[in-house]
Amino acid sequence: MIDRLLFGGDYNPEQWPDSVVEEDLCLMAQAGVTLLTVGVFSWALLEPKEECYRFDWLDQLLDRLHGAGICVDLATPTAAPPQWFSRAYPASLPVDVHGHRLAAGSRLTWCPSSPDYRRAAVRIAGELAERYSRHPAVRMWHVGNELGCKNMLCYCETSAAAFRAWLQERYSTLEALNEAWGTVVWSQTYGSWEEVQPPLATASWSMPAQELDFRRFSSDAVLEGFKAERDAIRQHSDLPVTTNFMAASFKDADYFRWARELDVVSNDHYLRAEDPDNHVDLALAADLSRGLGGGAPWILMEHSTSAVSWQPRNLAKGPGELRRNSLAHVARGADAVCFFQWRASVVGPEKFHSAMLQHAGTDTRVWREVCELGRDIGRLAPVAGTRVEAEVAMLWDYEAWWALELDGRPSRDIAFLSLVREWYAALWRLGITVDLVHPSADLSGYRMVVAPSLYLTADDLTDRLSDFVAGGGTAVVGFFSGISDENDRVRTGGYPGAFRDLLGVRVEEFHPHAEGAKVVLDDGAEGRIWSEHLHLAGASTVTAYAEGFLAGQPAITRHAHGEGCAWYLSTLPTPARLAATLAEAAREAGVRPPVVRSSEQLEIVRRTGAGGSYLFLINHGNREESVQVAGTDLLTGVRHNGELILPAGAVSVVRVQQN
Ligand code: GLA
Repeated sequence: MIDRLLFGGDYNPEQWPDSVVEEDLCLMAQAGVTLLTVGVFSWALLEPKEECYRFDWLDQLLDRLHGAGICVDLATPTAAPPQWFSRAYPASLPVDVHGHRLAAGSRLTWCPSSPDYRRAAVRIAGELAERYSRHPAVRMWHVGNELGCKNMLCYCETSAAAFRAWLQERYSTLEALNEAWGTVVWSQTYGSWEEVQPPLATASWSMPAQELDFRRFSSDAVLEGFKAERDAIRQHSDLPVTTNFMAASFKDADYFRWARELDVVSNDHYLRAEDPDNHVDLALAADLSRGLGGGAPWILMEHSTSAVSWQPRNLAKGPGELRRNSLAHVARGADAVCFFQWRASVVGPEKFHSAMLQHAGTDTRVWREVCELGRDIGRLAPVAGTRVEAEVAMLWDYEAWWALELDGRPSRDIAFLSLVREWYAALWRLGITVDLVHPSADLSGYRMVVAPSLYLTADDLTDRLSDFVAGGGTAVVGFFSGISDENDRVRTGGYPGAFRDLLGVRVEEFHPHAEGAKVVLDDGAEGRIWSEHLHLAGASTVTAYAEGFLAGQPAITRHAHGEGCAWYLSTLPTPARLAATLAEAAREAGVRPPVVRSSEQLEIVRRTGAGGSYLFLINHGNREESVQVAGTDLLTGVRHNGELILPAGAVSVVRVQQN
């Protein structure tokens, strides 16, 4: 158990002469660095030829870091195989959906199912673990980097064979596979396993259930690689093993399945630079990172001090933004704040990516803000290990995301992330803290459960959600949810199949909108993207459509069920109306923000543990705000007894007085 928050980043000293490393150690002390990820892209240095190892440089580096009091998160270098490897094992290079084999020449150039890659990756992971498991600097293991980021979906022959084996495990018989995939359509019935392929680019639309299983298989294949490296490490070490996720932006991995295999969840988050509300998206990613680990504290493994280098326009952060971003992650459960990377590269594709130490050196605003943040992180030690309090769960399912966006859906405008983001943003503005959880999670501790987009659902969710509501909970469900089972087979009898009884409605037909078209609702608000021809079957109308074909028909409904109630939104109301609906449902459910706020730009989250309760207050607005709190600000030491004034852009972390 670490009794403080950790602070640092990726350290790639192999890009620098030795004299720079000396300087780095002095500057790291100045900045308050306590944790570094080392070796993440060092495979060619560690193993310049197959099974010829060079550890001398890493021995020295770890000794020096230990001497400087810095903990190391030692990475296996397997995200980027060396040139010699790809040349010796060309079949390990991934193949894209068009059947083209990709060339070596960057990172992530490996097929997740390649036995040659797996053997080499496990071997170097084991060598590192054997050599460094007892090194005092090493405190944690870090497998690969952003696993599957560019190579999750490989369509090569090796992947095809592995896919078939995975399918045989899942379905046992070809008849069961044919049934699950609905291959009766378009004469696609398989007569032998050899005929089954990954869903390569084809003439017409591909078969959705095949695509869905290929995504499941691919996510599992990369996870198998993680587990193989982890197990090689565990033969020598019992330190925690992690890998860095890209929660809330990366579609291809089922991180809820993955998280079960990690000792601690780590996440990388980069702001969408041109989105003025990117701090809301940050909060969503942080809440999902926490949800993946079942609410446990997690590690912010990477974010940026300022601009990134891979967006169309890489905007620099404004003054104070770095602090707000970092502390918002901590507010939402991060126990470590780390960056890509310590020192900005001068070579390679990422040389214009910001770092803790910019090209311009220490006489810079970024450096001063990094050092100030390092001090803040030190002052927040008491927060370590505490947990975030939330009364609302938002259901997030990667399989539902995959299924929603397959070919042949009623509208191209329904996209999982944008729907979830809209609902999340509404709750964020209401000041309501949300846990992002998988539909299979225990819901009993929540007052309200929201499901913005859950196209595909497992059978058991119907009863579990119904029991939750019957027991006094509130559920709010978005349109085009509960539509299909796990094989993408439509639930018949009226939409939204899985939740029809709970919601007390029966939808006869979808009415997706023409591009950009809106429909007026009877309270003057508008619905976007989608409408439905909906009949009440126990529910009552909250808001009706007011124009066109559906005029007078219900748009938003509410159904009393047992001790609780279930709301249904058959359209995407304009943001203010969406927020008002969620606010009404939350009020009814007894959900409240942690403290009363003077502005929706004031982000307030509470972390609590045995040692105390901490209110994080982050003012994203451009006006001074005030809140009523009694307690001591950990960042300034100032005691507040009643009113706390928070200047524009400022952050406070108050240890609240317990009565
Ligand atoms: C990812 C990678 C890093 C680096 C950063 C740049 O998070 O893990 O190696 O490329 O992006 O933003």
